[in-house]
Amino acid sequence: MEITAQPLFPSLVWTTLFDDRESFNERMLKAARELREKDPVGVSRTNLEGWQSDNILQNLPEFEEMNTRILQACERIAESQNFVQGLNYRHQAWVNISPPGASNQVHFHANCYFSGVYYLSVKAPECGSIFFRDPRVASRMMTYPAEKLTAFTATEIRFPPEAGRLYVFPGWLEHGVDMNRSDEDRIGISFNVVAGA
Ligand SMILES: [Fe+2]
Repeated sequence: MEITAQPLFPSLVWTTLFDDRESFNERMLKAARELREKDPVGVSRTNLEGWQSDNILQNLPEFEEMNTRILQACERIAESQNFVQGLNYRHQAWVNISPPGASNQVHFHANCYFSGVYYLSVKAPECGSIFFRDPRVASRMMTYPAEKLTAFTATEIRFPPEAGRLYVFPGWLEHGVDMNRSDEDRIGISFNVVAGA
């Protein structure tokens, strides 16, 4: 008997590693640290203990390179999913600086097509992985007694942070970040992307 399986309604997480990450991250880290100096209090959202900037990177010339790459990546992804031509892609982005002990509660990003994170500085893997929670809510009623989890039976899936790596995911996909158990700050840029007329 041959049995085949077909994924229905899969959740996708896209990723890329920037070739020029060393020099690029140096420039972006400088801009991120200067931003914190200007606004040491920051804003409080899903971050526990960390510093988060306001959602303003899209308006700041010192982050122009980052802004361009976020939009390029998301437009490529949208193209791979057959989004209609001629849409205008816009984003909001912010800096997260998470010291040892900081984490991010599980959340999702309403009213955007894509969300993501780019890592500028991490001490992996103990500085805290991003994890995604199974969006098939009804599946939580009865989890599978599997010895080794697969993408189908898992309830949470973790991705280790890596300096120079970009992750993009649908805004509706619930996610959080494990506690930073390293002795260094975890520094990244997060963003939301929409597309419209
Ligand atoms: Fe998030």
